[in-house]
Amino acid sequence: MKKILVTIPFIALSLYSAAQQKINPVIDQKVKTLLSKMTLEEKVGQMAQITMDVITNGKDRFSSYEPVALNQQQLEHALVKYKVGSVLNTANNRARTREVWHQIINKIQETGKGRLNIPVLYGIDAIHGTTYTADATMFPQQIGQAATRNRTLVYKGAEITAYETRASAIPWNFSPVLDLAPDPRFPRQWETFGEDTYLISELGLQMVKGFEGDNIADPYRVASCLKHFLGYQVSVSGKDRTPAYIPDHVLRDYHLPPFKAAIEAGAHSIMINSGIVNGVPVHANYNLLTKLLREELGFKGLIVTDWADIENLYARDRVAKDHKEAIMLAINAGIDMSMIAYDYERFCDNLIALVKEGKVKESRINDAVTNILTLKYKLGLFEKAVHSLKQYPKFASKEFEQAAYQTAAESITLLKNTNNQLPLKKGVKLLVTGPNANSMRTLNGGWTYSWQGEKVEEFAAKYNTILEAVTLKAGKENVSFVEGVTYKMDGKYYEEFENGIESAIEKAKNVDAIILCLGENSYTESPGNLSDLYISDLQTQLALKLAATGKPVILVLNEGRPRLISKFEAQMTGVLQTYLPGNFGGDALADILFGEVNPSGKLPYNYPRYPNSLVGYNHKPAENRTVMEGVYNYDAEYNPQYEFGFGLSYTNFKYENLKLSAEKISANQELTVSIEITNSGNREGKEVVELYLSDLYASLTPDSKRLRGFEKINLKPGEKQTVTFKLNKNDFSFTHLDNKAVVEPGEFSVKIGSLSKNFFIE
Ligand code: BGC
Repeated sequence: MKKILVTIPFIALSLYSAAQQKINPVIDQKVKTLLSKMTLEEKVGQMAQITMDVITNGKDRFSSYEPVALNQQQLEHALVKYKVGSVLNTANNRARTREVWHQIINKIQETGKGRLNIPVLYGIDAIHGTTYTADATMFPQQIGQAATRNRTLVYKGAEITAYETRASAIPWNFSPVLDLAPDPRFPRQWETFGEDTYLISELGLQMVKGFEGDNIADPYRVASCLKHFLGYQVSVSGKDRTPAYIPDHVLRDYHLPPFKAAIEAGAHSIMINSGIVNGVPVHANYNLLTKLLREELGFKGLIVTDWADIENLYARDRVAKDHKEAIMLAINAGIDMSMIAYDYERFCDNLIALVKEGKVKESRINDAVTNILTLKYKLGLFEKAVHSLKQYPKFASKEFEQAAYQTAAESITLLKNTNNQLPLKKGVKLLVTGPNANSMRTLNGGWTYSWQGEKVEEFAAKYNTILEAVTLKAGKENVSFVEGVTYKMDGKYYEEFENGIESAIEKAKNVDAIILCLGENSYTESPGNLSDLYISDLQTQLALKLAATGKPVILVLNEGRPRLISKFEAQMTGVLQTYLPGNFGGDALADILFGEVNPSGKLPYNYPRYPNSLVGYNHKPAENRTVMEGVYNYDAEYNPQYEFGFGLSYTNFKYENLKLSAEKISANQELTVSIEITNSGNREGKEVVELYLSDLYASLTPDSKRLRGFEKINLKPGEKQTVTFKLNKNDFSFTHLDNKAVVEPGEFSVKIGSLSKNFFIE
């Protein structure tokens, strides 16, 4: 075992970074004064959040009549009698126009302010654009944004989303998702920046900055909400909201840094993981919520539950014997606001009783309400809760659409291009086929105009599907279309009469190439749970039968997670991953297919080849064993279909002169690494330069490599650029079993492209 040279106390790391949310003494004083005037009932009401359907005209609390309208009696019961302080979501799970949003939220504010003039905090999921507002600009989902490796585009996307969300009178966004997402089985991998901690931290930071700017009172900014704290996407089963077992040092080394970086950048709120970590539902985990998040990370913002998760403590997880005990556990663990979302009377009455019985201290209530009121003040809601519609002339503008297009164009990842089949030549005759060829729903995925994305076609008809965009580019006379395989609302695939596989094969006879669009339909959360990671059988048959025609097949993947394609990948001439590229994904793809855009996306996860081999790019040495002595084959070879960071271009980039500033350093020294990149092909192109670091020997088995830096550059043919990275002890360290970050002396290796160089830490 190596000697431990430098121990970096975890808390000390935060001293290096920018200040947390700014302390504002004026607001602090206002909150104190206000709090001193509030009754217990008023305070508890502030901690309650309900969903919009509860206060609309409708047959019950779970749905609304259309056209949606607030019900004065329900409104007063919730906001006046029970003094509920926050509302979320939309009615009937449907996007609304900005005008409707303004009407509704103005009325909520008018009724809800009560005797103390406290504004209501409206929150929404604006996940890849303003999900629930008609005509809002839809960007690629986070997984595609991660593939761009472009910090500026991610910032810009968040800034535009903030603008359009505030233009809808909503100041609080339940985004970004900062979950570490190494598991392709999990139904929400596409909502994340992928499997790498550093990539998530870097892009998460940009998203928070884009949402919040310097001042969230700005009418073009929103408060962000980091989610889902902590360890949500690594459940043992791979299914949503099921138990995960994560050792503390792993939690700190891989899951925590993105949250820590965003908190240090000033993020104003955080949502808790609906799942169960190490046997404890996170909503009842005092150690994670108070010890780690509040005391160690020093988070000063608002902590909100996820949907119905206090109820889940007894209804699902059975760590509380009834609802009242569940409330006690969660509030004492550190929850400030409960996303109830329906039965608010029960929450408020029970919490008031718990305080009176001394089971929840009033000081805990005061802290929670302080955090809630502080956010309302910081958002400027006390001065003006809703800004005029006229203040948002850029809503859904060409400028915003262009940003969404650009992000889509830089996300699409070219994974295979045999014989430079791509880009396609002008005049080529094409068959466009597959269940995802003519669908706006699949381009967007979940959280688009509705929760599961099933209402997309209704709202997005004016944008181009892949088929429409390719037809515009190639000319009507050159494109034929048959779906081959069709998607049903119940989640299954089937063949339609005259639109099935045989018709596709028939049509393939008359074309030069086939654009085969396969993948998944839209989903999120538990409805997206999955038992078979292979792409569906009918899609596999379609691919194999089309390949058997002998025509070149360009496989276009459009999916939320990497569904296995190893049964037919070898027969594909080209492969492009579009992820969930949003409303401009069809246009961006067509531009790439015809060479007007040079692809530059890089995979944000390992694309697995087999269902029992799902290790990440940073796997441990033991996870890459090939042949055992004698005749036995270990069959544990590390052999993904495509590796994290992979993505081709239409040009070539030459990497040379990898240089390190020293061969030996001390743990406290910085190491400068530089590399020269030349565009050696004949097309302009963007390249993502990634730096990986390997600690070759360590007292805890080291990762094979870890991403520690990336830069995206643009080079003209023949152009050369030097890219420089700086590494320091945060990069050299890992978290040990005592939960402290350590740097151990020994040999390290830096890898960029296919070049590598070693150095020593003494
Ligand atoms: C999801 C969250 C979301 C919340 C509010 C939950 O079911 O897990 O990500 O923010 O609903 O819509």
